Amino acid sequence: MSGQTYFITGGNKGIGFELVTQLSKAKDKNVIITTTRSPERAKKLYELAKKFTNIHVIDLDVGDAKSIDTIEAQLDKIGVKGIDIYISNAAIFQSLDPILKTDGEVFLKHYAVNTLGPFLVFQKVYKYLLAKDTRKAIFISSIAGTISPFAPFHTTAYGQSKVALNYSTIQLSRELASENFIVVPIHPGAVSTESSQEAIAPLAESNPVFFEAIKATLITPEESVKSIISTINGFEAKDSGIFYDYKGEVLPF
Ligand SMILES: NC(=O)c1ccc[n+]([C@@H]2O[C@H](COP(=O)([O-])OP(=O)(O)OC[C@H]3O[C@@H](n4cnc5c(N)ncnc54)[C@H](OP(=O)(O)O)[C@@H]3O)[C@@H](O)[C@H]2O)c1
Repeated sequence: MSGQTYFITGGNKGIGFELVTQLSKAKDKNVIITTTRSPERAKKLYELAKKFTNIHVIDLDVGDAKSIDTIEAQLDKIGVKGIDIYISNAAIFQSLDPILKTDGEVFLKHYAVNTLGPFLVFQKVYKYLLAKDTRKAIFISSIAGTISPFAPFHTTAYGQSKVALNYSTIQLSRELASENFIVVPIHPGAVSTESSQEAIAPLAESNPVFFEAIKATLITPEESVKSIISTINGFEAKDSGIFYDYKGEVLPF
């Protein structure tokens, strides 16, 4: 396969940074456009972009409509003519409280960043995806976004935002089927990153047995991303609108 152009949100750390790292080093020269909320939070990413000139970093806050409006101008400045694969990765996981104790603002913030942001960004990159034949839109979701029970802890605002994300991927896959888009939500596994460590930290006190169990199952970003890339590479039209995990196993919505 020859090199492809990727647009990946949230490339400064965690799974996003690992996606940028592995894809930029691939044998077939890819072009990676990735985003960060601020250069101060992205020193490691800028270091990588100095070494691998096929990485382009743009500013983007996916929870801010004004920032999303700047995408086109920033892509045009780089000279981007088309994008093969959009990977919506940026998200927050900031609450483990039960519904009764979660403020409305917390729900709204998760919804703005984790649900609305990925699709408002998609609206901006759509025309660049149309310019290529690959047309893959990958939404990094979570098993917390399945409505079947999955874990004995509260994922309240985060889980709700990922359920809504999954729902919208089904809609989008139908909307764009006639244009041969492949739209897929992917659960990356339980991955050891800053946000997952912070998210599960309170469980050490409230549910120590489960905390140790979940800690033991965490995989590295390297392992998750290696599988995510190979799974994405294998996607065909028939996979659009299906919920997959990083290894390519089908998950229930
Ligand atoms: N880690 C896991 O076990 C796990 C499990 C299931 C699903 N996921 C999903 O995997 C994806 C990546 O998670 P991760 O564990 O790698 O998290 P992470 O290390 O916290 O990275 C999240 C990324 O999203 C960015 N981000 C957050 N809010 C943003 C905003 N408003 N605008 C733009 N960028 C923003 C962060 O940038 P800043 O540095 O500026 O905050 C960072 O680059 C997420 O969609 C997450 O829900 C992760």
